[in-house]
Amino acid sequence: TAERDALMQKSAELLKARNAVLVAHYYVDGDLQDLALATGGCVSDSLEMARFGRDHEAQTLVVAGVRFMGESAKILSPEKTVLMPDLEATCSLDLGCPIDEFSAFCDAHPDRKVVVYANTSAAVKARADWMVTSSCALAIVNHLKDKGEKILWAPDRHLGKYIQQQTGADMLMWQGACIVHDEFKGLELDLLRKQYPGARILVHPESPTSVVQQADVVGSTSQLLKAVIDGAEGETFIVATDNGIMHRMRQLAPGKTLIEAPTAGNSATCKSCAHCPWMAMNALQGVVDCLAKGTGEVFVDAEIGRKAAGCITRMLNFVK
Ligand code: 13P
Ligand code: SF4
Repeated sequence: TAERDALMQKSAELLKARNAVLVAHYYVDGDLQDLALATGGCVSDSLEMARFGRDHEAQTLVVAGVRFMGESAKILSPEKTVLMPDLEATCSLDLGCPIDEFSAFCDAHPDRKVVVYANTSAAVKARADWMVTSSCALAIVNHLKDKGEKILWAPDRHLGKYIQQQTGADMLMWQGACIVHDEFKGLELDLLRKQYPGARILVHPESPTSVVQQADVVGSTSQLLKAVIDGAEGETFIVATDNGIMHRMRQLAPGKTLIEAPTAGNSATCKSCAHCPWMAMNALQGVVDCLAKGTGEVFVDAEIGRKAAGCITRMLNFVK
C-alpha cells in the first residue's frame, strides 16, 4: 500500500540520517526484514544478530526482535545507542525465569556450570557462566561435558532435553518453554508426514520432544533456512518454527514447497497460531518513531551489563 511504501521510505531515510543500522530477526514482519536488507542491516538468528550488532560500525542499532535481543546488543556495545520499535516485546522464556528464583536455583547447586539460553534477561545472564543460542548449544554443552562439568540449564526445557539426549551431559533443568514452539503437535505432524511422504521435517529445538524426534534437521532459524536453501529443487519441507521465517524462506528458495507444521488449532481455525505475539509487536511505525523521537531506547544497568558480557563473549569466542 501507499502507506506502507511511505513508512519504508521514511524508515530508510531516518536510518541513513541517524547513521543507524537495522538488525532484524526472521520472525518479525516481512517489511522489516526487507527494510533491514535494503539498508545494509541484517536478518538472522539470535547468534548472528548479536555478532552483527557488535561488529557493525554504526553507533545506533535498531533491533527488531524481542527484548533480550536488544539487551544483548546493548551489553556487547554499551557505548552504542540501541533502540527497539517496541520495548514491550518480550519472550515467555525470559518471563518464566525471574532473576530471584533463578539465583536461588543457582545458589542451591554451586557445583554446576550455569548455562543459559539467549532468551533470558540481562540479570539472568549476569548470573551465568555461559550463554548459548540454539545454533551453538550442542557444541558448547559437549565441550563442557568433555571437561567433566555438570550443568545447570535454563530456561527452555525442550531445548535442554534435546541437548541432554544428544550429548549425554549431566543437566539439571529449569522448566521454561516458548509459548509458540510448545504448541507444535507430534501426533498431527506424524499424520501430515503421511500426506507428504517425501517431505523433509525441519524443527526448531524449542519444540516438544515428540516433534523434535521426527525431525530431519534440528536447528536455529538460520540453520533451518540453510537446510531449505540447500535442498533439492522442488523439494517439500514441513517447518516447525514461527511462521515469520516463511518470508525469507520463500525469498531464498522460491522453487521449494513449504508447509507449516501443525499446532493444536492451526488447520482451518487459526492459520497463524505459530507466530510469536511479541515478535509481532515490531512494526515499521515503531522504527520511524524510535529513530525520529528516540523512543524505545534499551538501557542495561552498567554492573549487570558488565557481568552479562562475560557469558555472551565466551560464547562468541567459542563459535568463531
Ligand atoms: P534463533 O536463535 O534460532 O533465531 O531463535 C530465537 C528464538 O527466539 C526462537 O524462538
Ligand atoms: Fe520467545 Fe518463543 Fe517468541 Fe522466540 S518465539 S521470542 S522463544 S516466545
